[in-house]
Amino acid sequence: MKGFARITGTGSYLPDKVLTNKDLEAMVETTDQWIRERTGIVKRHIAVDGQTTCDLAEQAARRAIEAAGRTPQDIDLIVLATTTPDKIFPSTACLLQQRLDIHGCAAFDVQAVCTGFIYALAVAEKFVKTGAAKCALVIGAETFSRVIDWTDRGTCVLFGDGAGAVVLEASDSPGILSTHLHADGAYETLLHTPGGVSRGYDIQDAGGDPRFTQMKGNEVFKMAVNTLGRIVDETLQANDMKKSDVDWLVPHQANIRIINATARKLSMSMDKVVVTVDQHGNTSAASVPLALDTAVRDGRIQPGEVLLLEAFGGGFTWGSVLLKF
Ligand code: ACO
Repeated sequence: MKGFARITGTGSYLPDKVLTNKDLEAMVETTDQWIRERTGIVKRHIAVDGQTTCDLAEQAARRAIEAAGRTPQDIDLIVLATTTPDKIFPSTACLLQQRLDIHGCAAFDVQAVCTGFIYALAVAEKFVKTGAAKCALVIGAETFSRVIDWTDRGTCVLFGDGAGAVVLEASDSPGILSTHLHADGAYETLLHTPGGVSRGYDIQDAGGDPRFTQMKGNEVFKMAVNTLGRIVDETLQANDMKKSDVDWLVPHQANIRIINATARKLSMSMDKVVVTVDQHGNTSAASVPLALDTAVRDGRIQPGEVLLLEAFGGGFTWGSVLLKF
């Protein structure tokens, strides 16, 4: 048995429709300058009516499979992270499996909001490492625009839609060096979409339309900065590594100020940090694999380099993956 799991291909996809900060100026009381200064976001991509999370996931998945030099028939596990599934059931992973015309392998969704891809990658790694799977497809895909109140300037300027994917294969050498997952449900109401299948949508004191995301931005911001600083330390300690051993930071793309703070904690210059938040805003579970694929395809990330992937999101959930690319 091969004892490691290694990323052999990456892919991503953004829907064609673009919503700029200027467009948002016409929708809510905001300015391009405020959004750029407070978040670093310049534009976001939005799925058009009828375009679903599975549509985005399929494009990203096909690109990752092609980059790995594989065909869909080689895939023997699908783990898909999303907060915005096409249907209540079947899972979006099963819908994607059908689209790829593969049958029989395990396929399931993981729900950890913005940390979803980190969770999905950590889960898939355990399957591959133990020999239960040889060639896993791991995806983060969201149509987050569907759970946003487009009249709430405190949240609507932040989010967008997209998908990113990797192929993770059994390998004799690393590969993924370690994974670190955490959650604390005590912070439920700082960042949530209150309505749901079981609770329903007729909720008293929901604090707004229960179909849409509510966030105490300032409190989430502080928690994210502190928590991501701690997870960087935890990850390096677990691997007996120094900050200088990390070649690239691939962070969750929520806000440039959170990314800057984490880079400072790592004493890392910003030219070693992959930043794509300006191009697509916060795409939740899609953000880390979108950033990863961008830096792989433009040639910044090279084989053998050490990458630190990290994310923080609703739950709260947070986590990291350290890997040799
Ligand atoms: N345009 C103009 N003004 C605005 C806007 C806007 N779009 N949004 C808020 N403001 C105003 C506020 O009303 C406030 O005005 P006031 O001072 O008159 O009351 C002022 O700007 C400052 O508001 P703050 O909320 O204090 O601004 P802050 O600097 O904290 O930035 C932001 C807000 C961008 C939301 C920030 O807090 C943030 O990024 N938070 C973290 C988001 C995040 O990372 N979430 C985690 C992952 S998401 C997930 O898991 C789904």
